Amino acid sequence: MAQHLVFHGTLIHCLSLDQLEIIENGLIVIAPGGIISSLVKSISKDSVYQHLATLGLSESQYDVHFLDRGQFLIPGFVDTHNHAPQWAQRGLGQSMHILDWLDKVTFPNEARFRDPEYARRIYASCVDGFLQQGITTASYYGSMHAEATKILGDLCLEKGQRAFVGKCNMNRNAPDYYRDATVESSLSETRDCIAYIRRIDPEGRLIKHVLTPRFAITCEDALLAGLGEIARSNPDLPIQTHFNEAEQEMSFTKTLFPRFDNEVDLYGHFGLLTKRSILAHCCYVSEYELGRLKDLECGVAHCPISNMTVGGGFMAAPVREFLRRDIKVGLGTDSGGGFSSSILDAMRQALVASNAKEVMSQGKDKGLSIDEVFYLATLGGARVCCLDEKIGNLAVGKEFDALLIDSASSKPGVMTMLEEHDDIKTIFDKFIMTGDDRNIKGVFVQGRQVKV
Ligand code: GUN
Ligand code: FE
Repeated sequence: MAQHLVFHGTLIHCLSLDQLEIIENGLIVIAPGGIISSLVKSISKDSVYQHLATLGLSESQYDVHFLDRGQFLIPGFVDTHNHAPQWAQRGLGQSMHILDWLDKVTFPNEARFRDPEYARRIYASCVDGFLQQGITTASYYGSMHAEATKILGDLCLEKGQRAFVGKCNMNRNAPDYYRDATVESSLSETRDCIAYIRRIDPEGRLIKHVLTPRFAITCEDALLAGLGEIARSNPDLPIQTHFNEAEQEMSFTKTLFPRFDNEVDLYGHFGLLTKRSILAHCCYVSEYELGRLKDLECGVAHCPISNMTVGGGFMAAPVREFLRRDIKVGLGTDSGGGFSSSILDAMRQALVASNAKEVMSQGKDKGLSIDEVFYLATLGGARVCCLDEKIGNLAVGKEFDALLIDSASSKPGVMTMLEEHDDIKTIFDKFIMTGDDRNIKGVFVQGRQVKV
């Protein structure tokens, strides 16, 4: 018989942007389907079995884990912007401007995914690698190849990662050897991928296809219009694209689409801006665009590492402004742009970039706190993916996507060492700012242990 999973100890999660909840001596029960069925605060270790009995559970029905000092549960990380085929190119082409980086580094690399065996090998390592780092949900760009994208979907499902997986649409301004042959082939391959993902996960429990126009520069009008049409007839599907990333990109976009004053009007015209849209970067956003993004309920994937290393914007998004207006924001590793595929690194860089913004705005846009970057990596990301009713924190009724952190287990010198007098908030702060995947002892998606 399937067991209930039970933990007793410390749990830390966000109830909202400004509410970090630390539950000490908590008892969390996860039912066999992976749903959190009970969460009790402040219950002594001695009372655990008695309490489980009051829930009607007999000893054969559960498996209890008592957490030690320095160990705690947090929600799994949500990576709202990630390029699976760039797994093997991370760290390359640093400081290049976006269109040069695409031409010289990225397109030649992504073209290799025409070979399904290559795709399987790299994608298997990619999904394992991200799970290892506690990314329980990822919004992945695939390459332009339908077959490789299906393989990515298969691997996420098999390995148990919650994911959006998208065949990348691109039919111009890319080399002959790496672009969709025609608008119709790009759209029909997209429809084929959507049908495939629906077939392997009919209820969309773990995997969804995400419509993925790479960005307007690589898509003709008819392709954007066709994708908008697919979005309209499949309102459950998420949409992702790159948006106002860098000056080089924005000015080329203007020359290709002179009838639009800005990218909000452009993507909006083609029906690609909905509450399910995940817009990567948004580094430059006018007052008009801020208002439209809020009205359209689009989400922002803030990618502070690649913003500072690849793309040529060298400018991070105005996150405080988004938060002030309640525009949904999450974090993206944008791996392989940038050098890191760790959301912990993205959190730290978000904090650093926000401090720079504070100075540049003469104090108007306050830097982000540790609690706030943790929110972005968990509940904020879940909102961007419209998954916050399912995941993002450890509330009863949500699915158990969670990490077991062991802040005392790292080798000396990795995470700031714990001291006797450290309270739990101090331990949490030390983990967020100095921990790494060696401190992530367990990774659960829908209650299933998925770390390899
Ligand atoms: N714009 C279009 N494609 C890409 C990509 O692969 N990475 C980034 N950072 N920006 C893009
Ligand atoms: Fe990207």
